[in-house]
Amino acid sequence: MKNIKAIIFDAYGTLFDVNSAAEKSKDRIGDKWKGFANYWRTTQLEYTWLRSLMERHKDFWQITEDSLDKSMKAFDIDPSMKNELLNLYKVLSTFKEVPEILKTLKEKNFKLAILSNGTPSLLNELVKINKLNNLFDDLFSIEQVGVYKPDSKVYDLPIQKYQIQKNEILFLSANSWDVSGAGNYGYNSIWVNRNNSIFDNLDYKPKNEIKNLSELIKLI
Ligand code: 2OP
Repeated sequence: MKNIKAIIFDAYGTLFDVNSAAEKSKDRIGDKWKGFANYWRTTQLEYTWLRSLMERHKDFWQITEDSLDKSMKAFDIDPSMKNELLNLYKVLSTFKEVPEILKTLKEKNFKLAILSNGTPSLLNELVKINKLNNLFDDLFSIEQVGVYKPDSKVYDLPIQKYQIQKNEILFLSANSWDVSGAGNYGYNSIWVNRNNSIFDNLDYKPKNEIKNLSELIKLI
């Protein structure tokens, strides 16, 4: 870890709790809210991969809306809840340890950045409402290259900006496929395994697996 110059975070599922949107509406959705939230998230990611493969790009906000439409039909959710659910995606909360850990890392003078499928405005809004704006040097959005993770053009962005080597970047994601994408690209990639999941077989094994960002401090 001694040659690390920049620590880069995935956003959704890693810093921000994607299920906190549906969780805020669970009283109206009922017991099926967890299944609905997972179906929405899976459909959203499937759409990013399929649109990149088809070369028919739509931004992450449009994909979040399109995947919500399908998910609400699949789980028979009252259509009048659409705007409430969609707008909750703009105000996702961080996981509880995030602000403190980012502050600690900032004091250690690392470059800190987000590298995400999210649009620049979504990322700016999330960082602002969670009072993280003075902690990040950059918020890299895939909108700069018009293709979704794990395309290598996405992982090029911080290299081009910081003019550092791939192995001088420490990358953290809760999304196993994103850890593999970044690791296969050449980053030191750590898996934030928040939900005790099983890692994917995509040619990469993470340098470290941690349960939350608090465990990162002892690694660097
Ligand atoms: C992100 O790019 C993978 O959705 C996740 O933030």
